[in-house]
Amino acid sequence: MFIDIITIFPQVIKPYFGESILKIAQHKGKLQVRVHDLRDYTPDKHKKIDDRPFGGGAGMVFTPEPIFRAVEAIKSKMPKPGVKAEVILFGLHGEKLTQKLAKKLSLKKHIILICGHYEGVDERVGNFLADKEISIGDYVLTGGELAAMVLSDAVVRLLPGVLGHKDSNRFESFSNNLLEYPQYTRPENFKGMAVPKVLLSGNHEKIREWREREALRLTRKRRPDLLKD
Ligand code: 6GU
Repeated sequence: MFIDIITIFPQVIKPYFGESILKIAQHKGKLQVRVHDLRDYTPDKHKKIDDRPFGGGAGMVFTPEPIFRAVEAIKSKMPKPGVKAEVILFGLHGEKLTQKLAKKLSLKKHIILICGHYEGVDERVGNFLADKEISIGDYVLTGGELAAMVLSDAVVRLLPGVLGHKDSNRFESFSNNLLEYPQYTRPENFKGMAVPKVLLSGNHEKIREWREREALRLTRKRRPDLLKD
């Protein structure tokens, strides 16, 4: 998969892709990431990327031209021109990111992520350039940078061959609308806090039943909303 990220803060994003699963995915050749500084695409000699809103009001709005130019430049430089890029704009008006949406996006060959700013991006970017707008939740961030990292992380770990164990994606929270069962490791007794006995029993059928029960109990207690779908 190719991921291109357009941002005014490339130095915030780059280090995240140099660690952990995202780094491994690149070493394995499953992922190619490029981070683009939006200011490199402005025709303005002061590298200005925003302006005051028409109609008045507080704050500044990203102008459309640098963003359109950045996306065009990225598309024109793709090694295989036949691959359609999914252009995503981050912002609070977007569809909420869920595991289901992450799965859908993990099937794309190329995604272009545009990091907006909380005060706004000219509406024409969302209407005419982006295929989709995405928000990562109902709270306000100062920009789309964290959203780009969150989405990339959620999507890349789903790419075939990225995670080591082939079941790693199967028995986990949200894949089946349940939270994951609790996990324990050594020691069996830590300062008087004991591990549930059944996990030490060696009885795989009993363990499987316990995990299923616990997953359901936890979901009912903490996230009853998940059981509604
Ligand atoms: Cl994508 N952008 C901003 N600015 N705030 C957010 C968000 C995105 N998702 C949740 N909050």
